[in-house]
Amino acid sequence: MRRPVVAGNWKMHGSRRANKALLAELELQLPPQWPIDVVVFPPYVYLADAVRLLAESSLAVGAQDVCAEPDGAFTGQVGAAMLKDVGCCYVIVGHSERRRLYHEDDALVARKFAAALGAGLTPVLCLGESLAERDAHKTEAVVARQLDAVIAMNGIASFSDAILAYEPVWAIGTGRTASPDQAQAVHAFLRSRVEAQDANIARHLRVLYGGSVKGGNAAELFSMPDVDGGLVGGASLSADEFQQICAAAAVRH
Ligand code: 13P
Repeated sequence: MRRPVVAGNWKMHGSRRANKALLAELELQLPPQWPIDVVVFPPYVYLADAVRLLAESSLAVGAQDVCAEPDGAFTGQVGAAMLKDVGCCYVIVGHSERRRLYHEDDALVARKFAAALGAGLTPVLCLGESLAERDAHKTEAVVARQLDAVIAMNGIASFSDAILAYEPVWAIGTGRTASPDQAQAVHAFLRSRVEAQDANIARHLRVLYGGSVKGGNAAELFSMPDVDGGLVGGASLSADEFQQICAAAAVRH
């Protein structure tokens, strides 16, 4: 059985005070021995704080983005080795907000994925179609293109150290969740695409669902055979909601 993952992407939210309160509450609510991986993704400036606050906890910390370059004259950017240096274990690459608002293309996402792996971070590769693409029946073509670009640059073996997150753009922050069947169909498609190149990696690959996951809908999403947890936005800012989502993932295990 694949170990479920619940990842909380805080996006550009928080403050030192609010983060401290949220993490303290989460630590109280999440039993240390749960059979799931729980990761929080605060904004860059709060990463070191989060690592320190969670030093005695089983929660891990990740970054929301990474520079594709290792270091150098790239004002405003943060390199993968720096994230590792402050105690991050994970990094999100290719989030749809980065692709859409900051014009990140498949090739750049593939290079970020490489940078993450090179520094010993686990990349959480986000894939997903827009509403127009879904309506035009292009969902599989879009996520295949996004996945294939990363496989082409990094090789299928690199996916033994990575996590996929299917995040339909139309479900992010909209309150409109993909149905469990819709999520399962895309997750199974992604797994089969990896399986065509390496069955063993496909069997172990964790594929998370993201897009309006809440305490109230997590259990039915996570009951699907290829949904191995969630990448949670808004609901990760509430300890109660996030705890409910984690509990749903733990049941899956
Ligand atoms: P919401 O859970 O707020 O829809 O955000 C999903 C997301 O983008 C997580 O990365």
